[in-house]
Amino acid sequence: MSRRHAVLVVALLAGCGSPSVPGNVTLDRWRSGDAEPGQWLGLGRTYRADRFSPLVALSDTNANRLGFAWESDARSRRGRVEHGQEATPIVVDGVLYVSGPWGTAIAVDAKTGRQIWRYDPEVDGSYGRRACCDVVSRGLSVWGGRVYVATLDGWLVALDAATGTEVWKVDTFEDRDTRFYTITGPPIVAKDVVVVGNSGAEFGVRGYITGYDRATGARKWRFYTVPGDPAKAPPENDAMKRALETWGPKTDWASGLGGTVWGEMNYDPELNLLYVGTGNSTPYAGWHRDPSGGDNLYLVSILAINPDDGQLRWHYQQVPWEIWDYTATMNMILADLTIDGRPRQVLMQAPKNGFFYVLDRATGELISAKPYVYVNWASGVDSTGRPILTGKANYRDRPAAVFPTQAGGHNWQPMAFNRQTGLVYIPAREQGMIMFTEREYRWLPGDVNMGSGAIFGDLPKDFKPSQELPMQVPPELARQFADAARAEPSMATREFLLAWDPIAQRERWRVPLGATEMMGGGVLTTAGNLVIQGTAAGQLVVYRADTGEKLHEIDVGTAIIGAPVSYEVDGVQYVAAVAGFGGALNPALAPGTAATRYANYGRILAFALGGGVAPLPPKRTPQPVPEPPPAEWYRETEAARGAGLFAQRCARCHGGRGEAQLSAYPDLHRLPAATHAIFDSIVLGGKLAPSGMASFADVLTPADSRAIQAYLIREQRVLFAESAATKP
Ligand code: HEC
Repeated sequence: MSRRHAVLVVALLAGCGSPSVPGNVTLDRWRSGDAEPGQWLGLGRTYRADRFSPLVALSDTNANRLGFAWESDARSRRGRVEHGQEATPIVVDGVLYVSGPWGTAIAVDAKTGRQIWRYDPEVDGSYGRRACCDVVSRGLSVWGGRVYVATLDGWLVALDAATGTEVWKVDTFEDRDTRFYTITGPPIVAKDVVVVGNSGAEFGVRGYITGYDRATGARKWRFYTVPGDPAKAPPENDAMKRALETWGPKTDWASGLGGTVWGEMNYDPELNLLYVGTGNSTPYAGWHRDPSGGDNLYLVSILAINPDDGQLRWHYQQVPWEIWDYTATMNMILADLTIDGRPRQVLMQAPKNGFFYVLDRATGELISAKPYVYVNWASGVDSTGRPILTGKANYRDRPAAVFPTQAGGHNWQPMAFNRQTGLVYIPAREQGMIMFTEREYRWLPGDVNMGSGAIFGDLPKDFKPSQELPMQVPPELARQFADAARAEPSMATREFLLAWDPIAQRERWRVPLGATEMMGGGVLTTAGNLVIQGTAAGQLVVYRADTGEKLHEIDVGTAIIGAPVSYEVDGVQYVAAVAGFGGALNPALAPGTAATRYANYGRILAFALGGGVAPLPPKRTPQPVPEPPPAEWYRETEAARGAGLFAQRCARCHGGRGEAQLSAYPDLHRLPAATHAIFDSIVLGGKLAPSGMASFADVLTPADSRAIQAYLIREQRVLFAESAATKP
């Protein structure tokens, strides 16, 4: 035990229960959160995680007077690319705590926005390459005078809530050198342990969560979500023994299998159960992963774990033999509902797969499941809890139209439950995708491995089978895409805020948010009959909770994709959220997002009654097309090969050609001469690794790098000629 650590323990004991100890969340406060309506103690406010604020000063009668109160800087401060702000803040005794990209953490005065401390774990920037969907953090945890935050590169850190200094930290990763694990999900305190999961299924990892003693960081237990190769080691516990029976003899153990836990977990102190949602498979295409078609436990499942010993109490699998990148990692809400005249302790979730699930959270028994958006992979869920497959969405033999998409009917943007209206408010999305198998699937080290491809939303209006798509598609396959799309009424994207009755399992109202993906952020609901949601277009919008009537809209000029919270300091009710676009869509910003119009960077924004107009960020400056290097710099054969390598290794972040306005990353088809001159030192030498552009020397040869550059120069020459032609 370090000296600093010992001193802190003494201070904690002395200040037990006293509000003078910052961040002093206790089991009692966690359990009886309603006694303290002005606090927001965990990501979902209390253990119920319903994101329901009992405060009523702000209500449907005065919401139009809600205005800007303060803002506080939450930039990532790394290179030029700003990253997504997906976290929900926590507010304890007048201090707001929030995590940011890479696993940074900030504490600010919740009344003024004045920064109290900022913690930067100084993560090795090359870990950026290991994140499928941006280097985000979805939140931290505050407990007993400490702030627990997980870093992108796998450390779980306990900070002193008063000063932001490290008390202890532990490395949570296995196989760091060979496996692309990252952490983007929040840790959670469950009584005496702090538990954290990880991300990385697309790259091929074996999911697990680990419980650490929250006082010392000593490891107490680890629970894997999928089995390991039985030829290498026996199953770790009974749960793994049972899981192993659901995987066939040809399972591709080397791929890790996935099942990562990257969303919010919940801890129910009454039942002493930790609820954990697991993710998708690696690779998605089941025939490449385990041709037996077994259930593949515990992919896409909700697990109830005893936090004292890390043993599984029950599980509920939503999608046996997952093949669509469906996940059960979306936020879970605990509530007491009367169903068929019986009081039930329930757990509710609206996961990617489009069904709204109500489970008995003591036993895991399915109470009901109904589609909350259009679904075509299953026609329902039977009385034993198994989905009834339609076969329509199976893309093994031919491309298939699949509803919902990999983006989900609902994704990580948290939903909320209002105890007064009895409604759950879901940031929902109706959208189709065409999925197709990779026939010649082969493991690609150091990159995403899905065994399949997907095209989202509507095929372009003028889609012709021969048309060049984002990936290399032979004409025959493209024809099949068009056929698959025709089998469904509409592949178009519709985003909406959905009010769902979890007892009747039906829609009460919806507010359309437009035809662009990921426009709606996480949701807050309040006892003032309000639902409050940010948008990627850069507004905070306030609705009546009972009817969905829009009451007020505040322009902030920055996308709000995380969930707002509400709290009280000195008798004033505030609403606060972090703003900043990013996440899976950073490489291809949706046309409507504020990030296409304004400089995009992290801001914590707070609002109060009688507040003013929110300041807007400066306008976005488009990336010009500088004069390209001369044609002698490349050979056509190199450029052709480079196009394929670019699509495989670079487009995932840098996006396509000519999208300078529509990507958070530099458009590589518009590089200045000075950057062309040092291309290799960036791509192979890791010159920009500290700002998130890792070296690719482990997977690309100098000839590969030259080929990619050749392709980029060829395209830049076309772009340059086009832009010169359009100049007045
Ligand atoms: C995981 C995301 C990611 C991937 C994948 C990626 N990059 Fe980058 N790249 C970045 C980031 C972030 C920056 C900006 C760094 C900075 O702010 O200086 C960048 C910058 C660059 C730059 C400098 C651009 C400029 O205008 O200065 C070059 C060149 C580059 N990348 C090449 C590549 C190539 C080639 C590939 C594929 C082999 C690739 N990148 C793949 C994240 C990525």
